[in-house]
This record gives sequence, structure tokens and C-alpha cells, in this order.
Amino acid sequence: MEKLAIDGGAPLNGEVAISGAKNAALPILCAGLLTAEALHIGNVPHLRDVTTMLSLLGQMGMSISVNEKLGVELRAANIHHPEAPYEMVKTMRASVLVLGPLAARFGEARVSLPGGCAIGLRPVDQHLKGLQAMGATITMDHGYMIVRAPRLKGVRICMDLVTVTGTENLMMAATLAEGETVIENAAREPEITDLAACLTAMGANIQGAGSDKITIQGVAKLHGAHHRVMPDRIETGTFLVAAAVTRGNVRVTGARPTTLDAVLDKLREAGVKIESGDDWISIAPNGKLQSVNLRTAPYPAFPTDMQAQFVALNSVADGTGVVNETIFENRFMHVQELRRLGADIEVEGNTAIVKGVPHLDGATVMATDLRASASLVIAGLVARGTTIVDRIYHLDRGYEAIEEKLSRLGARIRRVS
Ligand code: UD1
Repeated sequence: MEKLAIDGGAPLNGEVAISGAKNAALPILCAGLLTAEALHIGNVPHLRDVTTMLSLLGQMGMSISVNEKLGVELRAANIHHPEAPYEMVKTMRASVLVLGPLAARFGEARVSLPGGCAIGLRPVDQHLKGLQAMGATITMDHGYMIVRAPRLKGVRICMDLVTVTGTENLMMAATLAEGETVIENAAREPEITDLAACLTAMGANIQGAGSDKITIQGVAKLHGAHHRVMPDRIETGTFLVAAAVTRGNVRVTGARPTTLDAVLDKLREAGVKIESGDDWISIAPNGKLQSVNLRTAPYPAFPTDMQAQFVALNSVADGTGVVNETIFENRFMHVQELRRLGADIEVEGNTAIVKGVPHLDGATVMATDLRASASLVIAGLVARGTTIVDRIYHLDRGYEAIEEKLSRLGARIRRVS
């Protein structure tokens, strides 16, 4: 099993280019199911989750070609197997994003129930409730959700809670439904706006994406299109936190600063200097690093996918930071591992109280999920001595060539078997 070995203490300096967003690429790849014509997608990040999604789509009968410039061409002219098997869904929960497109275009889908995952229960009841309201019938069969639908019908759907992939699934389903669908209490994440832009380029009629009310007028057919995936705001934020804790001067390029307001505000509060332009952000030290209090919540509030990285930041900052996680019930597994490096963190329910310590000491730690892994890498970059991060397959799911990008910024990091 591959690991990362990090010799801490080197400040990060220089420029790093941000990759396409994982959480935008995954639904956009699924949007390829909505048309028989070719969908060309650019700036697709080279990640394990993307490879998993492509092999899932390939198994269904999608023809796929990938070029060396991170471009993918999809053609769903011959989908013979509208199914997402357990083996795929258990490794990548986002596989459930095929549900809406399959139901809308083919009137049938067989998708494994995701079950629990490392960071919590994560049910899909809202996805199903929406599809049912649009006229689909859903039955359960040996751990699979079987969706059958004649042509879906537009309806008004009020989501009980804000769900990102739930909103995406229903928005995709509604593009081919008969009549108007209104999704109330929709998620407002920038990745939803990016998906809507792709669907619009394919001929969909969508208003309000990025707000909590999305209105979709169904059309009979979608067509081929070209779309470029937006930059990854979580990768951007992760590099900024890594720069902040190592007291480095870093400029991230190819980013979209307007998608990171809450994260940039917290970084400024932590005592770093942030400047930004249309597609870049620079960060520099500005006095001592200060702990910050934060609370995760749906966009535009502070993202749960940046929580673990800020727990690592607070671990080495001045003072005590209170971190409240409101999205997932079990998302503090990095805490145990950070403690192994000497961090002083107490967890009470969904709150972590992090007392900054003068230094962390390298140790072997285990990655438990994607963003937890990122927090361990960040901690390793400042810890004294060597930190070994084990089980980095979690990291490879969502960060493109992270050790190469960090090395180019001056980190002493290498991948070892
Ligand atoms: C997406 C992101 C993930 C991010 C999360 C929250 C992708 C591929 N993944 O995950 O990186 O951490 O948003 O920003 O985009 N819930 C229900 N019923 C449902 C659906 C969700 O109860 O039908 C609950 C979940 O258990 C969770 C909360 O709603 O507590 C939010 O989950 P959701 O927004 O759906 O997360 P994902 O879309 O899975």
C-alpha cells in the first residue's frame, strides 16, 4: 500500500496550478447520459474518483475517449446496462449521480444503495423523494434501488434538507421531464452552477442555479456540447491552508476566488495576508498564526470539505479554536490521528475544541477519508521530523498529484510503497 513520507518544517513558496473540480466533474460526467450525442468535457481532473466514474459509465455502454489534455469525450448512444453495482457505489458514493439521468432518459435505473460511509450515514432519501414526486416508482431489491419511470413529469419539489448531489440528480432528471420542475431549498454550491452551465450548453432550460430555487423547463431531447470544468475550490483552499501553516508565500493560479469567500475570510482571521485577482489568490504570513472558530454549513457558508484542514491549522496556531461540524455526524476521524502528532484536541459531539501547541512531532498516521487525509498532510508539513501518512488511496480520490504539486512548492514529500 502506498504512503506519503513528509519531512516537516519547510515553508511552501512559489506558484501552484489548481485542477478541475472533482465535485463538478463527477455530475458533469453523468450528464453525458442525458444525450446520445457527444459531450466534450475539458479540465477534467486526473483523479481516482473520475476513473471510477468513467469505468462505471463504460460498463453501462457509454463510449469514452480521453485525451492527454484532460479532455474527455462521452457518447451515450448505446446504454445497454443502466446499473450502478455495489462494488462501484461502495467505493464512490457519487455513483448515485447516475440515478437522475438514467431515470429521465431511459425510464429505468438499478443503483446499489450506498450504505454507511466513513463520515456518516449519508442516506439518499431526498433523491428518491424527488424522483417519486416526478412520477417514478421505486422498489428495493437485494440492496438495490430500482427506479422505473415512464416520462418523468415536472413538479414542485421542496427538499427537506440541503443536499448537493440530491439537487444535482433532480436537476438532471428534470431537464428531460415533461413540463416545469421547481426545486425549492436547493443546494447553492458553485458545482451546481457549473453543472447547470453544462446542461444549458446541452440545450436544457434552467433558471436559478446557484440560488435556493431552481426552475427547469423540461425539453424532449438534449444535444452534444463542450464544457470546461470549473476550478476545484477545495483543492485551492487546501493549498492555502498548507501555505498558511508553513508560513509560506504561495500563489495559486487557475482558481476561482469568488467561490471561496468563507474560507478566505477565515484565513484572514487566522492572521495571513490574502490577495486575489480574477483567477489567482496569493497568501503570505502576516504575524503569528491565530486559531479560528468555525461552523460548517451549506454554501456559501464554510464548507465541511475544508473542516479537517482548519483543524490542522488550529492545532499549530495561537489560542483555542472551536470547530463545529453541522453537515456530517462522524467527520472528526482526523482528530485521533492529529493527536498522534501531538495535537491537543477534544471532541464533544459535533464540536472539536482545538488548543494550539507550539509544535507537532512526526509519526505514522492513517488516512481515514479524503479530507481527513489532507489535514494529515498539512500537519506533516509543519511537524518536526518525519510523518508517514498511510492509506493515501483516500487522498488520490480527490487530489491530483498532490505530492508533486507540494514538492514543487518546496515541501519534502515523497510517495513510498
Ligand atoms: C457533496 C460532496 C461532498 C461534500 C458534501 C457536503 C460531491 C460528489 N460530494 O456530497 O464532497 O462533503 O456535498 O457539502 O459533490 N442527506 C440526507 N438525505 C439525502 C441526502 C443527504 O439526509 O437524501 C444528508 C447527508 O447525510 C448529510 C447532508 O444531508 O448529512 C448533506 O449531504 P449532501 O449534500 O447530500 O452530500 P453529498 O451530496 O453526498
